[in-house]
Amino acid sequence: MIPQDFIHQVLDRVDVVDVIDHYVPLKKKGANYQACCPFHSEKTPSFTVSPTKQFYHCFGCGAHGTAISFLMEYAGMGFVGAVKDLASRVGMEVPDDGQAARPENDNRDRLYASMEAAAQFYKDQLKTSDKVVNYLKGRGLEGKTAAHFGLGYAPDDWQGLAKAVADYQSQDLETAGLVIAGEGKRYDRFRDRVMFPIRNERGKVIAFGGRVIGQGEPKYLNSPETPLFHKGRELYGLFENRRAIQQAGRAVVVEGYMDAVMLGQYGVENALATLGTAITPDHVGKLFKLVDDVIFAFDGDAAGRKAAWRALENSLPRLTDGKRAAFLFLPEGEDPDSFVQSAGREAFERMCDQAKPLSDFLFEELSTNIDTASEEGKVRLFTLVEPYLKQMTNAPLLARSLRQRLAAISGVVASERQQRSGVRKPVGGMARQVPPTSPRIVLQALLHRPERLKTLSELPLSEGQTAGQLEAVLAVMREHPELANIRGLLEYFRGQPEETLVQAAAAGVLEWGEDYDSEPDLRGAWAGLMEQAAKQQSAAFKGKKPSEISPAERSRYMAALKEKKLDRLSQVEPPKG
Ligand code: UTP
Ligand code: MN
Repeated sequence: MIPQDFIHQVLDRVDVVDVIDHYVPLKKKGANYQACCPFHSEKTPSFTVSPTKQFYHCFGCGAHGTAISFLMEYAGMGFVGAVKDLASRVGMEVPDDGQAARPENDNRDRLYASMEAAAQFYKDQLKTSDKVVNYLKGRGLEGKTAAHFGLGYAPDDWQGLAKAVADYQSQDLETAGLVIAGEGKRYDRFRDRVMFPIRNERGKVIAFGGRVIGQGEPKYLNSPETPLFHKGRELYGLFENRRAIQQAGRAVVVEGYMDAVMLGQYGVENALATLGTAITPDHVGKLFKLVDDVIFAFDGDAAGRKAAWRALENSLPRLTDGKRAAFLFLPEGEDPDSFVQSAGREAFERMCDQAKPLSDFLFEELSTNIDTASEEGKVRLFTLVEPYLKQMTNAPLLARSLRQRLAAISGVVASERQQRSGVRKPVGGMARQVPPTSPRIVLQALLHRPERLKTLSELPLSEGQTAGQLEAVLAVMREHPELANIRGLLEYFRGQPEETLVQAAAAGVLEWGEDYDSEPDLRGAWAGLMEQAAKQQSAAFKGKKPSEISPAERSRYMAALKEKKLDRLSQVEPPKG
C-alpha cells in the first residue's frame, strides 16, 4: 500500500500539463491547454488540461482525471506503476513497502538512462553528418519526420558512446546492448548506422535498430534481447503514433522501420512495424487492446504470403468477436515506403480499405489446389479448416459464421455439424453435452478407417430404429466395398431413411480429423450396441417357453453375450500392435 499522504505529495509536485504533453502535445489556450482528445476521435480539440486545477477534462467524451488517471488510462499503467512513474519524475521514492523490489528497479532505471543518453547522442550526431542527412534526404525523408521518430546517427567510431556517458566501462552499457565487450576490448555495437530508437508505450527508449548507410550487411542491426527489450512484444511506432492509431480506430502493421516512418510522413499516421520478427500473439493482443481493426501489410510475393499466413495463425487465438483483422498485399516489388512515395496516401488508404478479411484469406489459402466441386475436395476443405476454427475460442460468433460458410461451400448441413460437435450453448448459457448415438459412432469410426469393417462380427443387431439402419448400412458396405466411403454411402442412401445417419456420421468424421484415434470410440459404441441387443433379446425371451424360442433367436442372444464379454476382456488388456 502506498500511503495516501505520499500520493498527494507526488501530485503536488508533478504538473499534469507536463505529464500529458509528453504523450499528447498540448497547445496553450487562455488559462488552459488543449488538444484533440486522445480517448475519442475528433477533429476540433475539446480535450482541456487545467494547470491550476491539475485536472484534465474532455468536453466531447467526458474523459477526465488527474495525472495518475491519465497514465493509467492512456499509457496503460497500473495504479502503483503510475504513482511510481510520477514519483520518479520529481525525484521522490515510493516508501518501501517491505517487498524490496528496489535493486531491480534501480537497475532498470539505470538501463533506461543509458538508452536515453545514447539516443540523445545519436540524435545530435545526425545533425553534424552531411553524409547521413544526404542519405536520408535522398530517400525522401523530411527533417520533421526524422525528428518525430527521433532518428539519429551512430558515428563511425569504435567508442563513440564514450562521449555520451559518464562511465564507458559501466556494465550497464553491455546489459543495455549498447556496448560489446570481449578479449579486453570494449566497443560500440552500433557504428556508422542510421539509428531508429525503439520506445516502449511510455516513450522510454528500450532498443535501437541501426541501418547501414547504403549497401552493406547486415542491412539492419538490432539491439539484442535485454531486460528492457523483448522484440516479440514490441511494435515500432506504438508510442509515436499511438494517438493517431486510436483516433483512426485502426492500426496498419508493416514490416520495416522505414515503412512506418515514411507512411507517417505521408499522413498515414496509424502505422506500426514489427521488429524483424513474425507477428506474435503478444503483438496481436496488444493491437486489439488498442483498436478493433488491424490491417497487416505484406509484400505481394511468396515470402509475404507466408509471413501473412503466420500472422493469421497467431491472430486466431487473440481474435474476439467484434475485432477485425485483414491482410493487405502490396504490388510486386513495392513496400509501403516505396508505394506511398509513388502512389500517395489516398492510394495506400484505399488498399487498406480493400484489405482481405482474415476469413477470406483463410478460405482462399486452404482451398488452393482443392477442387471444391468434388466430394473429396469438400471433405478435404472441411478437415483443413476445422482446426483453425477450433483455435478461435475467443470469437465464437465469428467461428460459427465461418462454419456456416464452410457448410455452404461444401454442401453439408451446418446444424448436423453443430449437433455432432456436442457442446451447445442454450440461451441460459449452460453448456450441455449432446451425446452422439452408438450407431452413428460405429458408422463414423468405420468411415474414418473403412478397413475395420472386417474386424466387426456379422452380427444381426436388435430392432432399435437407428441400429436397424446401421445394419442396413453395414450390409451395403460389406457387399459393395467400393461404396464403403462417405461419398459412396451418401449417394447410395440419398432420399432413404438411412441418409440422416450417414450424413451425421460423415460430418463427425470430418470433425475427428485424420490423426484421431477412433478405436476406443468404436469399441465402446459397439459394446453398447451388443449389450442393448442382448437385453432386448432376453426381454423377448421372457414369458416364452423354451420351445417357442427359435434357434436363430438363441444364437443371436448367445453371440451378443459373447461379443460383449470379448469386448470387456479386450478393454482389460488391449491387443498389442
Ligand atoms: P527489409 O529488408 O524489407 O527492409 O526489412 P526495409 O524495411 O524495406 O528497409 P529499407 O527500406 O531497405 O531501409 C524489413 C525489416 O526487417 C528487419 C528490420 O526490422 C526491417 O525494417 N530486418 C531486415 C532486420 O532486422 N535485419 C536485416 O538485416 C534486414
Ligand atoms: Mn524499404
